Formats: sequence, structure tokens, C-alpha cells
Amino acid sequence: MSTTSKTSILRVAHVYYKHKNVAKQQQFLADFGFIETERHGSKIYYRGYGSEPFLYCLEPGIEDEFGGAGLVVESLEDLEKARAIFPTASEVYDLVNVPGGGKCVTPQQKNRPVNSFQRFQKGPATVHKMGHFGMCVTDFQKAYDFYTKHFNFVASDVQYDEAGTDISAFMHIDLGEEFTDHHTFFIFQGPKSHVHHSSFEVHDFDTEVIGHDWLRAKGYRNCWGVGRHIMGSQIFDYWFIVEHYVDGDQVNCHTKTNRSAASPDGLHVWEMLNSLSGFVEYTKYNDNAFDTGLKSFMIY
Ligand SMILES: [Fe+2]
Repeated sequence: MSTTSKTSILRVAHVYYKHKNVAKQQQFLADFGFIETERHGSKIYYRGYGSEPFLYCLEPGIEDEFGGAGLVVESLEDLEKARAIFPTASEVYDLVNVPGGGKCVTPQQKNRPVNSFQRFQKGPATVHKMGHFGMCVTDFQKAYDFYTKHFNFVASDVQYDEAGTDISAFMHIDLGEEFTDHHTFFIFQGPKSHVHHSSFEVHDFDTEVIGHDWLRAKGYRNCWGVGRHIMGSQIFDYWFIVEHYVDGDQVNCHTKTNRSAASPDGLHVWEMLNSLSGFVEYTKYNDNAFDTGLKSFMIY
């Protein structure tokens, strides 16, 4: 029984491949030393002489293509852990018509069906959920102490200046073992107390960029992005006060706070250099007042 947050893998079990010339590959696999064990639909399963139900699954394809590897994990709990790693993971399901049976999680549901077309529609990037918001604060340490003392905010990333003084924190909501976004709230030291931006998650990269094109076609200009953050790893697209993002990191109670030096290069690893520069600063409060930026607490 594993006691860490890591998914406990016992062994690698099998691989999936697609081949254009199935007959030729069948011959090769036999010559290579595999033994055909079962056929289901268009899939041909091969075993070795060990106890693993199959080692190689051959499928016809329009290209020769690797379809991924199957890994055996220790327990049902590990399947759930594996599932939590991938935003697009399937539910746990029973393997039917597969040698050996068992239960399975598929991390990606991205396999494109062959003989069909992807036809994306132009339009706004439909928003999935609110992800985070952030405040510029005039007394970073006071603000940091406030949020972490009174709430289950825990820093995922903290950055410090040349003098070693902490100046920004990206905080997640501590939900214990449950995975949650790398940051739900962030604060950084600055001359005026104001909200920086609020951010909304979209479904995938296509959705985000289609939404970006849509806004541009409507005459809007963004202020930063599209790009890839470092802290939190999101693919971002900022429209001054609001942000579209996708593909952010997930953390839980086993994630250690990462500390690093702040630098101009520290905010993105790549960015499309066609945006306007600058955020709208909504300075609602007195310069030296500490305002939490919090409006309400709810229970649904
Ligand atoms: Fe953001």
C-alpha cells in the first residue's frame, strides 16, 4: 500500500501500435518472437511466454504510429491517483475484450478518430470556470501573513528580490490530498493596492486561440500572450483585466513551496510578441491601505 501522493507503478505491461501494413507487421512480430493470443475487432493481441496477458497490441492505422504504453499500478487507489494527474483522464473502467481484463484509466482522450474531419467553429472561448485572481499589495509580508494565517491558502511558488526579500506569492487552496490549481490567488509587492487580473479557464489550447482570434477580429487587442507561464504553467492570454488560460499545474498537500528569484524572464517561457503591453490598474483603495480584495464567502 503506497503512502505517498505518487501513483505507485509496479511494471510496464504492454504497448499499442498502429500499422499501415498489418499483414507485414504480423509476420514481423511472429519473427520477432511474439505469440498471437487474442483478436477483438481490428485489434490483434500478442503475448510472450511470461505471465503478462499481452505485450503488444497491433491495430490497423493510416500511419505507422505509437499508441502508448500500459502501466500496471499497485491498487485501485493508485488508479485514482493516476487519474487525478491528467485533466482529461477517463473514469476508472473495466477492460472488456482485452486479454487479462482488469480496471483501467486512460489519461488522454485525444485520439483522433480516423476517416473524419476536425472542423472547429469560430467564436468566443467558452469559459469553464474561474481559476484565480491576484492583487498588488503595498506590504507583501503583512498581506502574506494575513492570507496564510486566516485561510487555507498555501504558497505553491514564492519569489524574492535581489535582497532576498519575498515579493510575490502564488497560492493554492489547501484541500489535502485532493489536487487543486497551482494558484487560486496571488499577491505581489507594488506601489499601489489594486487588483491585477482575474482569470478564467477554457477547455483546451484550440479553444483559447480560437477565442483569441475571435476577440482580435472584433477589434480588441490583448495586452499579453498568448504565452506559457512558468509558475503554474498555464497557457495564458490576457485581455487587460481578465485572462483566458488552459493547462495549468495541479498541486496538493504534498507539493512543496517552490522559492525562486524574481526576474524579468520569470513570468513566461514563451510568448507571441504581438500584444499591447500593460494591464489596467483598478486602484480602488488608498495607496497605503491594506485591502484584502475579498468580497464574499459562500456556501452552496
Ligand atoms: Fe493569471
